[in-house]
Amino acid sequence: MKRKELNIGLFGFGCVGYGLFEVLHKTPGLKTTIKKICVKQAGKARPIPAENFTLNKYDILDDPSINVVVELIDDADAAFEIVSEALKKGKAVVSANKKMIAEHFNELLELQRLYNAPLLYEAACCASIPIIRNLEEYYDTDLLTSVEGIVNGSCNYILSRIFSDNLDYTIALAEAQAQGYAESDPSLDTGGSDAKYKLLLLIAHAFGLVLNPEDIFTLGIDRIGNTELQYAREKGYKIKLVAQAIKNADNSISFFVIPKFVSPDSRLYAVDDAFNGVITHTSFAETQFFVGKGAGAYPTASAVLSDLSALTYDYRYEYKKLHQVDAVASNEDRLLSILLTGSHDLSLYFDLFKSIEETCTRRDGSYVIGTLTLSSLKLLIKEPTVSVVLRNIEVEDKAEATAVFAGVELLDTVLGQEI
Ligand SMILES: NC(=O)c1ccc[n+]([C@@H]2O[C@H](COP(=O)([O-])OP(=O)(O)OC[C@H]3O[C@@H](n4cnc5c(N)ncnc54)[C@H](OP(=O)(O)O)[C@@H]3O)[C@@H](O)[C@H]2O)c1
Repeated sequence: MKRKELNIGLFGFGCVGYGLFEVLHKTPGLKTTIKKICVKQAGKARPIPAENFTLNKYDILDDPSINVVVELIDDADAAFEIVSEALKKGKAVVSANKKMIAEHFNELLELQRLYNAPLLYEAACCASIPIIRNLEEYYDTDLLTSVEGIVNGSCNYILSRIFSDNLDYTIALAEAQAQGYAESDPSLDTGGSDAKYKLLLLIAHAFGLVLNPEDIFTLGIDRIGNTELQYAREKGYKIKLVAQAIKNADNSISFFVIPKFVSPDSRLYAVDDAFNGVITHTSFAETQFFVGKGAGAYPTASAVLSDLSALTYDYRYEYKKLHQVDAVASNEDRLLSILLTGSHDLSLYFDLFKSIEETCTRRDGSYVIGTLTLSSLKLLIKEPTVSVVLRNIEVEDKAEATAVFAGVELLDTVLGQEI
């Protein structure tokens, strides 16, 4: 098959945009030309000559010789305008903007269909890990029982530095920003929104369920305090921000982003720093594990490069699982075992628990260990002074225990870095 030549209009020349520019120059086999780069600020010092740049998006969108728009800007609203206009003009689009894609998933599906133009976004989820295309192409819905992962590089970097070097939260966050791992607005990372947007993409491609971002229960790492850190250290655990979607016995899906205690026998335990890791639990292959860098210029650019390469073969997502007959329902009844901490009397919240294993009330910090449903957890975290860390998801029945949890030590597929 003859590969298509790509004439690229690039939006954004920051961390990832410049990374892509360099990566493309080191990949001569791919027949691509960057015809124009649209940026925001006039007069900013750039590492390449000024004639490559424009501040006018229509220099790209109205140029009929440009057949691919690569959108790598840090403004989700402006990105949606650019991407929709490009698709309406029949141009293929590659984007790394999970916020924009998650907030407009259905509209973008419709635009792709109406204008017969593809939108690819492997870099939007776990940067260098090829997870979207794997979920889209490899796994049938029936095969997948859970997708669980560390999907935010900067939170993982911050938590790793806290655990391995005893760093203070604010210093670890400043380091993550200095390394280029954090979003321009770091609260998108630490508050869990970035992971939520990525989970939305994972759920659409894994289970065919399109959600609104606000449907996903999300708790970031910014409430974690000393009691949880001490509990983790005493037990030999780490805390990781985990995004998970799990299939229930009735085929409904439960999903959430939440800080979780991770023990050394979990694959995620050794996923540190800016690495991301995704575990798929499947009916027959049991557990598979993907790991790779989840942020940074080159790792993210490598996923954009892979999408560009796919476009040279006219690849597009077919969203097969969205078109399967049986609609997938979401479910908030799943029981979770948690550690609840707060600086006040936590007996106020006992009614929300289905069972309580342990409680402790102290002047310097109280805690409760117990199980409750996802819907009760949603009510609980409306109180901003409490913090919650997930211990585990209660197993529904014996069959699930065997299928989902017992396979960890068996057949594993490790992509990327050896850990
Ligand atoms: N950094 C990572 O590790 C990483 C990983 C995965 C995904 N992503 C995603 O990749 C995208 C880019 O992130 P980044 O880290 O490269 O951002 P960045 O370093 O802040 O760069 C942003 C770039 O966008 C340009 N820009 C902003 N608004 C624009 C507009 N309206 N029109 C044209 N250009 C505009 C800026 O122009 P000026 O140069 O003129 O200011 C700048 O060049 C984001 O969606 C992010 O979520 C980043």
